Amino acid sequence: MPALPNHPVPVQRPDAMLAAMPTVEVILPHHRYEVLIQCGALDQLGPQVHDRLPHRRCALILDQAIATTHGRQAADSLRGAGYEPLVADFATSEPLKSLDTVAAMLSKLAGDRIERKSPLVAMGGGILTDTAGFAAACWLRGVPLVMVPTTLLSMVDAAVGGKVGVNLPQGKNLVGAFHQPSLVLIDPNVLATLPQRELRCGLAECIKHAIIRDPDLWTWTSENLERVLALDPGAMQTLIARNVAIKAAVVMADEREAGERAHLNFGHTFAHAIEAAQTSTPDESRYHHGEAVALGMIAATTLAVLLDRADRGMLDELIALLDRAGLPVRADNLAPTARLMELMKLDKKVSDDRIRLILPRCIGEVEIDDSVPTRWIERAWDSIRA
Ligand code: GLY
Repeated sequence: MPALPNHPVPVQRPDAMLAAMPTVEVILPHHRYEVLIQCGALDQLGPQVHDRLPHRRCALILDQAIATTHGRQAADSLRGAGYEPLVADFATSEPLKSLDTVAAMLSKLAGDRIERKSPLVAMGGGILTDTAGFAAACWLRGVPLVMVPTTLLSMVDAAVGGKVGVNLPQGKNLVGAFHQPSLVLIDPNVLATLPQRELRCGLAECIKHAIIRDPDLWTWTSENLERVLALDPGAMQTLIARNVAIKAAVVMADEREAGERAHLNFGHTFAHAIEAAQTSTPDESRYHHGEAVALGMIAATTLAVLLDRADRGMLDELIALLDRAGLPVRADNLAPTARLMELMKLDKKVSDDRIRLILPRCIGEVEIDDSVPTRWIERAWDSIRA
C-alpha cells in the first residue's frame, strides 16, 4: 500500500509486550495507522512513536491542563526513546480554538526549526488535538501527526479520523483540513484526573455511536454505565475500544465525508448552533461540547418522532440514558429559536442553503435528511427548552 509523503506506514511491529496492546487499525486508500488502547500505554509513547517515525527531533504540543502531570510523563518517554522534543503547552477553551492559537503554535515550530520528518505529538482534549492537528497539517505543508487524547471525548472521536481545524467567530470548525495521524495512543489511566463533567461529555459521543451504528453497544453502555462513571479499568478499556472501532469503521468507509461519515454528526447541527450562540456567555455558564451534543441528539430525535420516522419509546430511552449519564436533557438558557436557526444555516454542512440533519430511525440506524421544513426544526428547538 503506498504511503503519502510525511506519512510513513508502520514498517515493523513493536516488541512482544507492545505487540499485545489492544489495537484498532484504520486502513485508508493511501494511509493506515493504529490506535493503541491500554491502561499504562503512556509510558510506551516514546518507543511507539520512534518505531514508526524515527527522527532526532519531535514536537510535543500539550494541553496546559495536563502539562505538569501526564505531559511530563509523555516528554520523559519521548526523551527515553532518543528524541530531543520541543515541549510547548497551550491553554484550551472554545474561544482559544482559533487561528491565533494556530499561529502561536506555528511560531513555536518555526522558532525551534521543527523539520518535515519531525513528528508532532498533540496531547490533550479535543480542542487541543484539533488545533495542534491543524498546525501539523499546515507546518511545512504537513508533518506526521501523533494523537495522544486525554479526554474520553477526544479518545473516542476527535483523535481518530483526521479532521483537524479551528473555529471562526462565525461558527465552529469552519477552518480545517483532513490530516490523518500516523499513530493514536490512548491510555485510559489519564482519565483519573479528568473532571467528571468532561467524562460525562465523552459519554455523549459514545451514546451517539451506539445510536448511529450499534444496538449492542447501546445495551452494554446502559448496563455498564455505573462502572464507566466509576472509571473501572476493564469497563473503560471496553468502552473506548468499541467506540474507536465504530469511529474507525465509519472513517474507513467514507474518509472525506462524501456520505455516511455525516452520520457522526448526529446531534451536532443542533449542538454547533447552541455552542455558536454562547460566544459571549461566561465560560462557567456555557454548555460544553458533549452537553450540547446531548441536547442536539434529543432535538434531532424529537424531530424524527414529530416526522413519524422514529418511535416515541426511543426518544424516552435516549432521554433516560442521557439523564443517568448526568447530561442535560432540557436547556434553560438557550438563545431565541430565530437566532439558533440563523446559526444552523451557517453550519459548514449546509448545502444550497439546506440544513442537513441526521435523524434516527431506531437505535443503531440513522438517515440523512436535508429537506425538513423549517417549522419542524423550530418545533424541535422548542421541545428541548426547560
Ligand atoms: N467528529 C465527526 C467526524 O470525525 O467526522
